[in-house]
Amino acid sequence: MNIPTPHIGVSEQGVIAKTVLMPGDPLRAKFIADTFLENPVQFNHVRGMLGFTGTYNGKKISVMGSGMGMPSIGIYSFELFEFYGVENIIRIGSCGAYTDELELYDVILATDAYSESAYAKVQSGSEDDVMLPSPELNEKLEGFAKELEIELHKCRIHSNDVFYNGQEGYFEMVRDKHGCKAVEMESFALFANAKTTGKKAACLLTVSDSLVTHKVTTAEERQNAFTEMMKIALEMAE
Ligand code: HPA
Repeated sequence: MNIPTPHIGVSEQGVIAKTVLMPGDPLRAKFIADTFLENPVQFNHVRGMLGFTGTYNGKKISVMGSGMGMPSIGIYSFELFEFYGVENIIRIGSCGAYTDELELYDVILATDAYSESAYAKVQSGSEDDVMLPSPELNEKLEGFAKELEIELHKCRIHSNDVFYNGQEGYFEMVRDKHGCKAVEMESFALFANAKTTGKKAACLLTVSDSLVTHKVTTAEERQNAFTEMMKIALEMAE
């Protein structure tokens, strides 16, 4: 396929950095660019999925929204990896806690992602229901978190296809049977794409709500609290 791709309006190589941070919300990508990047330049506005490249401490990095859910991050991450020479994608998202061991605003580094999703099966024929992040990226992110003195909770996450689940006892079953401590909706597909394209991916999450205690954060609180996770990920600039 030629560039621009159907979903990313960039016609030249080198405009998008080798490392891309992906929040779900494109406005959060804009917030990161406006708040943390030096000389940010917007490279995408197709479907409002804003993407920016700039520097952080003088080193190049891009940030772009992924949208919600595996079909959405599946499209954007595949195009970045396969057609724009992107090597590393770090998802920086929100998640729901499946256990009272996790508090609101805790920062999680995903050790692996379990899913019932057919994404990997349809994409590459893989029967695996667990997809893995890059150990190398996870090690780097752990190191940066340590330097920044931000506590990281390492655990398996659930990449869910259904936000509004009507089945009683479902999340408890996923937690107890598959060992997932938190839920989001994207990482399984991101990790599957990294695997099939030979690239690297990782995922940092901030707890935005709890399915156990039913505590929630406001949009405004999230904007500020999520900066810890962003700072860890921004250290990936190179
Ligand atoms: N479910 C799925 N994804 C999420 C949640 C949730 O409860 N909270 C934040 N992302």
